[in-house]
Amino acid sequence: MADTEVKYGLAGVIADDTSISKVMPEINSLTYRGYKVQDLATQCRFEEVAYLIWNGELPKKDELSSFNAREKSERGLSADVLAVMKRFNKNAHPMDTLRTAVSFLGQEDNTTDDSSPAGLYDKAIRLYAKIPEIVAADFRLRNGKDPIAPTKDLPFSENFFHMCFGEVPKPEIVKCFDISMTLYAEHSFNASTFTSRTIASSLSDIYSAVTGAIGSLKGPLHGGANEAVMHMLKEVSSPDNAREWMLDALATKKKIMGFGHRVYRSGDSRVPTMTEAYKKMVEVMGTEEAKKYWEISRILDETMVAEKGIYPNLDFPAGPAYYLMGFEIPMFTPIFVVSRITGWTAHVMEQLANNKLIRPLSNYTGKPQREVVPLDRR
Ligand code: COA
Repeated sequence: MADTEVKYGLAGVIADDTSISKVMPEINSLTYRGYKVQDLATQCRFEEVAYLIWNGELPKKDELSSFNAREKSERGLSADVLAVMKRFNKNAHPMDTLRTAVSFLGQEDNTTDDSSPAGLYDKAIRLYAKIPEIVAADFRLRNGKDPIAPTKDLPFSENFFHMCFGEVPKPEIVKCFDISMTLYAEHSFNASTFTSRTIASSLSDIYSAVTGAIGSLKGPLHGGANEAVMHMLKEVSSPDNAREWMLDALATKKKIMGFGHRVYRSGDSRVPTMTEAYKKMVEVMGTEEAKKYWEISRILDETMVAEKGIYPNLDFPAGPAYYLMGFEIPMFTPIFVVSRITGWTAHVMEQLANNKLIRPLSNYTGKPQREVVPLDRR
């Protein structure tokens, strides 16, 4: 007899095989292609991790330089994309503008429907190279400034700062950003990744898969949480209020953004590395504002763990770190996309390498079968 139990939210359901990443909540670990994410974040640059996610192995020196050269050759948006972006609604959320711009990239690429392994790899690198510029250009345009073109002279993370601010900050700040890129890159069958696989499974194209994934990531229960964390820290406003704010929020049964995780129940494996990088960045900055947000974060974390035993997820340290780097709060989730494009596209490739249309069943709870009554007799 068929299993009729409904798995709400697909919780606990194993939907396919994957060799890209493994989440091991029982030992609080996450690996990409077998490597611990903490080691990758601290010992490799994001470019190496991107290569690993797509190719299965860390690059040798010559492989990395040709990979980077390929990414750099894809930098630069067409005049058409920039023209369309200039007409975007300045009040739209940057995830909406990013989603639209990525969809536009799909319609201007004449190879969109080439889903051969080489064709997918080309387009993955294209998206990885162009999405940072879309995010940076959108940030500048909505602030009334001209976009800054990418430069081939800078590595990936440095180039992103250059396109946003026209300058590259201190190495510890770039390192904190680069670490966040690695930590956000991939996380098995989360909602947006599963969305990208679902779209790919109908043999649609990779741009459609990524456009859908961006829509999924936007939600506050998923990628949008890093923005919500920063709004919360601003609302708390001072370390003196932090403990009381948290106790009050818990007493009124508020969902505290940046805490909890569907898979990790005793701590998110990515958090200690990100928290350490955030702390180092705060020390290097040395400003009162940086120290204030660090203290608020620390007290909220301590209080939540002591009171509820619910641990912070990656969005909790990443939100304030991005804020202190100078990014506007609505940019946080688009920045997540700058990284996660690697994971999504690797999953699209993996899905298509052994495709089966994703089509679950549902438990119908509506009216039983019945006859239509013609309009004049209703
Ligand atoms: N704040 C307060 N309570 C929380 C909580 C949070 N952030 N996360 C979980 N809980 C509580 C729930 O209220 C629930 O308590 P109950 O059993 O008394 O009702 C219990 O913990 C289990 O939570 P549940 O919502 O069933 O877990 P889930 O697996 O469905 O949800 C999240 C996981 C991530 C959606 C959830 O923790 C959440 O909404 N977190 C905030 C948003 C966030 O940071 N998202 C980023 C994820 S990486």
